[in-house]
Amino acid sequence: MATPVPPVPLASGRDAEVFALDDHRVLRRYRNFCDTASEAAAMAHAARHGYPVPEVHRAQGRELEMERLYGPTMLDASLDGLISPEESSRILAELHERLHALPGRKGSGQDRLLHMDLHPGNVVLAPRGPVVIDWTNARDGAPDLDLALTALLLALTGDSTDPPLAGLAEACLAPYVGHVKGDPTRLIDEVVTLRSDDPNLTPEEIALRPRAADLVRKAWAAQVH
Ligand SMILES: Nc1ncnc2c1ncn2[C@@H]1O[C@H](COP(=O)(O)OP(=O)(O)OP(=O)(O)O)[C@@H](O)[C@H]1O
Ligand SMILES: [Mg+2]
Repeated sequence: MATPVPPVPLASGRDAEVFALDDHRVLRRYRNFCDTASEAAAMAHAARHGYPVPEVHRAQGRELEMERLYGPTMLDASLDGLISPEESSRILAELHERLHALPGRKGSGQDRLLHMDLHPGNVVLAPRGPVVIDWTNARDGAPDLDLALTALLLALTGDSTDPPLAGLAEACLAPYVGHVKGDPTRLIDEVVTLRSDDPNLTPEEIALRPRAADLVRKAWAAQVH
């Protein structure tokens, strides 16, 4: 059942709207039907092992009620010049390293919990440190897949036509691939084809992916391994 009180809108993304319920809680509500249970389970696993995520209070149908965070996203802080691309890239790489060091959810296999959308807009610089939001695409798998996705997102954005955003993303790609513990190119072809049927993506965005993958390969080749 939908929350009856009209909450205060905080943000509106492609898939969901976020409302403040009070000083401590927000409600993230998907526009279309979507079951938030697996997202909440991923966040709970991360939180149980001390990983910085908002505490989940309730997950029901398309609604997720969670801890309200205070602070800018790393994207906004970067665009405002409060944090350098080098620092932002180091934080992204560290957040990935910490996430992939958590015990997997499937026993003793190699799979780890992956976020699968870690970019500066999904990190909130809260008083307790960087906190990762937007676990919609979280799944289990090989950590290199997560690294490839972030590198691809940075390359795609660096190639976009929005100058400040493109400049920032371009400046982040080389330091990010330099900092990660793993190979962001090994599974990049899988990531290029991943979610190509996503209705949120334009045909142009899909067509840019192979070129962005080449940018990641170049950035990786330029690093000393
Ligand atoms: N727990 C939270 N506390 C405070 N603000 C939040 C919280 N979660 C999300 N927000 C706000 O809502 C915005 C969008 O959140 P989120 O990334 O989860 O949604 P989204 O629909 O995926 O958006 P986008 O398409 O922009 O990625 C965030 O940038 C942040 O400003
Ligand atoms: Mg988001």
